[in-house]
Amino acid sequence: MAQPDSSDRLFDIMWSCRAMRRLKPDPVPEETLKQLVDAAIHGPSGSNAQNWSFIIVRDPALKKKIGDHWKKTWDFYHATIAAAPARPGEDLKARERMAAAGTYMVDHMHECPAIIFVGVRKDDVMARVTSSPSFAGNVIKFFGFAGLLKIIANMSSTQTQAEASTAYPAVQNLLLAARSLGLGAVLTTPHLFIPGVFEKLLGIPKEFTLYAVIPVGYPKGNFGPVNRPDPGEVIHWDRYGG
Ligand SMILES: Cc1cc2nc3c(=O)[nH]c(=O)nc-3n(C[C@H](O)[C@H](O)[C@H](O)COP(=O)(O)O)c2cc1C
Repeated sequence: MAQPDSSDRLFDIMWSCRAMRRLKPDPVPEETLKQLVDAAIHGPSGSNAQNWSFIIVRDPALKKKIGDHWKKTWDFYHATIAAAPARPGEDLKARERMAAAGTYMVDHMHECPAIIFVGVRKDDVMARVTSSPSFAGNVIKFFGFAGLLKIIANMSSTQTQAEASTAYPAVQNLLLAARSLGLGAVLTTPHLFIPGVFEKLLGIPKEFTLYAVIPVGYPKGNFGPVNRPDPGEVIHWDRYGG
């Protein structure tokens, strides 16, 4: 579908905000990195808790260690998910190009000017409410006993969803801000394959959960355009399948 006309640059930025994995080693000014985080925290957060943390790694020794751990997760991804049969309509050549760029990124992680880890702290209010003795009674009052059982069964996934829903708008704001400032960046999730490893390396307290790792730097290649389906393929009017 064609890019909407707009006098501001928002749509230009969205339409050309590609995942950028080939980055120059040139340093990114600290002020610019702060601007990225400032853009990120202009996003929404659940209950307006504003409970994000951004760990920006620039230390060469740390970046080397991060790259070494990352390589294991990438080799695993490459041998499994990246090697799986194509999805319906998927262009395997595009997947190969993405994998080659991913390999470049991982092999050059030590040169990346900044790696931004995005974490969300458990919300104190939510923790207090859900652990209070009156919580179960209140849930039964509003949703019934069956509702209580469902909420208890889904508690951990609900908490993860709520925190992720706070993390990813910030991440997307950061990616758009980076694009706007001429910086390349990519949302990645290597931590999912090695739980606890980056947290230990970076001294992240247990009440924080990592949701994204974003290498940032000036791009070697060109921005955009991003390749997406026609929106008609993903919209369901009124009912799924409608
Ligand atoms: C949940 C999620 C996890 C991702 N994890 C990784 C990752 O670990 N490594 C990576 O190189 N890219 C990762 N990506 C980036 C995607 O591969 C990228 O958004 C997608 O290929 C589209 O790229 P494009 O915007 O350049 O078209 C991730 C994206 C999302 C949304």
